[in-house]
Amino acid sequence: MNIKSFEEYREIYKQSEQDRLKFWEHEAGTFYWRKSWEKVHSGGFEKGDIKWFEGGKLNITENALDRHLNTIGNKTAFIFEPNHPDSFRRTITYRQLHEDVCRFANVLQEKGIEKGDRVCIYMAMTPELIISALACARIGAVHSIVFAGFSAQSLAERIQDCDAKMLITNDGLRRGDKHVPLKDISDEALESCPTVKNVIVCQRTNRDIDWKEGRDEWWHNLIRNASRNHKAVEMDAEDPLFILYTSGSTGKPKGVLHTCGGYMVYTSYTFRNVFQVQEEDVYWCTADAGWITGHSYIIYGPLFNGATGIIFEGTPTYPDPGRLWEVVEKYKVTHFYTAPTAIRALMSYDLKYVQKYDLSSLKVLGSVGEPINEEAWHWYDDHVGGGTCPIVDTWWQTETGGIMISPLAGVTPTKPGFATLPLPGIFPTLMDENGKEIEGNGVSGNLCIKHPWPGIARTVWGDHERYLKTYMSAYKGYYFTGDGCRRDPDGYYRITGRVDDVLNVSGHRLGTAEIENALDEHPNVVETAIVGYPHDIKGQGIYAFMICEKTPEDPKAFKKELHDLVTKIIGPIAKPDKIQITPGLPKTRSGKIMRRILRKVAADDLENVGDTSTLLDPSVVDDILKGEAY
Ligand code: PRX
Repeated sequence: MNIKSFEEYREIYKQSEQDRLKFWEHEAGTFYWRKSWEKVHSGGFEKGDIKWFEGGKLNITENALDRHLNTIGNKTAFIFEPNHPDSFRRTITYRQLHEDVCRFANVLQEKGIEKGDRVCIYMAMTPELIISALACARIGAVHSIVFAGFSAQSLAERIQDCDAKMLITNDGLRRGDKHVPLKDISDEALESCPTVKNVIVCQRTNRDIDWKEGRDEWWHNLIRNASRNHKAVEMDAEDPLFILYTSGSTGKPKGVLHTCGGYMVYTSYTFRNVFQVQEEDVYWCTADAGWITGHSYIIYGPLFNGATGIIFEGTPTYPDPGRLWEVVEKYKVTHFYTAPTAIRALMSYDLKYVQKYDLSSLKVLGSVGEPINEEAWHWYDDHVGGGTCPIVDTWWQTETGGIMISPLAGVTPTKPGFATLPLPGIFPTLMDENGKEIEGNGVSGNLCIKHPWPGIARTVWGDHERYLKTYMSAYKGYYFTGDGCRRDPDGYYRITGRVDDVLNVSGHRLGTAEIENALDEHPNVVETAIVGYPHDIKGQGIYAFMICEKTPEDPKAFKKELHDLVTKIIGPIAKPDKIQITPGLPKTRSGKIMRRILRKVAADDLENVGDTSTLLDPSVVDDILKGEAY
């Protein structure tokens, strides 16, 4: 399916409504299956036993790589743009990528990795990260990519949770002018991960590292003599493909599990229709492969469609804030997909950084990860797109596998700040406080999805109950997204942000409980409550209210200690922006913190703190109002 006009979109949406299964079966039919499925779909939200294309046999990498060899084998699959613009850059064709994946698949099998085993990948944004993930998929191992900004402790927790057998990492990486010692961090993490028997280290920084004989091996040594022929392992459509950890409103991050068949069909279909990438186009998604955006729209979706993509190791402001535009000019990028936080950050610099470069190659702009404010939308439209590029504001989640609500580029009329309309096959609905669907337009409510789609996560690794509780229990028979949403008089959807205790900081998802638990580890901290507040660049900033044993003598030094602690336990992305020490927290009689009040204070909306009469001790609010953050 490749939708080309708005009329066609309307028509196909209607068809998908009339016969969902026929719609998805048609999409699945565009792939190479070793054996066709026995049943298109079974199960539902009630039991969380969702299955798609069951009995179908495939290997996802045959669809990403092998089937392109005879047609576009010599086409560039990836252009690698390193952290520093003067470092070594390279292009990789589909044929070379296939060869590299086959070689590394052989290496993994020689190391004893088998179908179903979990392999953790903690790497720089380089081609080897992608080769690692695809090699896992080729042998049926379940990859768990951990963003290389997470701490040793976070890495260890993720390895332990899925009992990974192997870790693939780099000696280190450079991000902007910072150096991150990935191997040292890995060594520290592995002290508490007895299941990991082998570590493969890919050289990137050439710095000295510790070496554990018998466990650690260099990528380049292993790959050298590996055969480039590899027969992909046959998988069932419902066999696991990968685990990706993401934050929830409570407890530790959960391992969201995606399976082979449905994820393949869904990411391919959404990539094709949302971005409308043509044969000669150059597509660039600036995300890191450690997040779902990288999984679905750097690795899998583009490869299924034979696109040319960019792997970018750097950051938007290094060596200067013109970097992204320099890359667009250099490779004549046609499709550019980034997060609003990057746009807001770049907006704060002189326009000369954008104007210096020729951006006339651009055809489509994308946005993902958080609501895009109108100011950023217009800046993106005017200064990057020159007023001629449709902006696809794509709403989706780690759990949805792929884009759910979004304009289709050049097809759907856009509106600033709106993710616009659902893709055919996706049926969103807004719910009121009584759990009833809200009919009509010009309404707001909690966003739910009505019927399972192929890309939906199948479970939380090792904790199916948590999966049911988080997504399927708030509204029986629906998938609950955790987002608030408005449907305007035209039926367009605008995502207003999370309605649960999940924060979205610079497009990164963080649970308040995770950050609170980290801060509570400080000997002087008795209790913490974290809320988000509007932040000009990050979208949401992290505001910590905390009760301390004694008032810190040097608040600056105290804040630094807290930052170091959070960096050690979670990673630098979770550092609180503001800290307010308070004698008490606003709690209900049942002991629940009333975050509504704290959110108002954090947003400096002091007039509207609302009803405090149900608090155990309403006088706490006066203390908080009088207090100050630093
Ligand atoms: O709140 C929504 C926000 O990001 C959340 C999902 O985060 P994550 O699983 O990390 O995936 C991010 C990349 C897909 C959602 O619940 N979000 C994502 N895209 C948008 C968005 N909010 C508004 N507009 C978007 N386009």
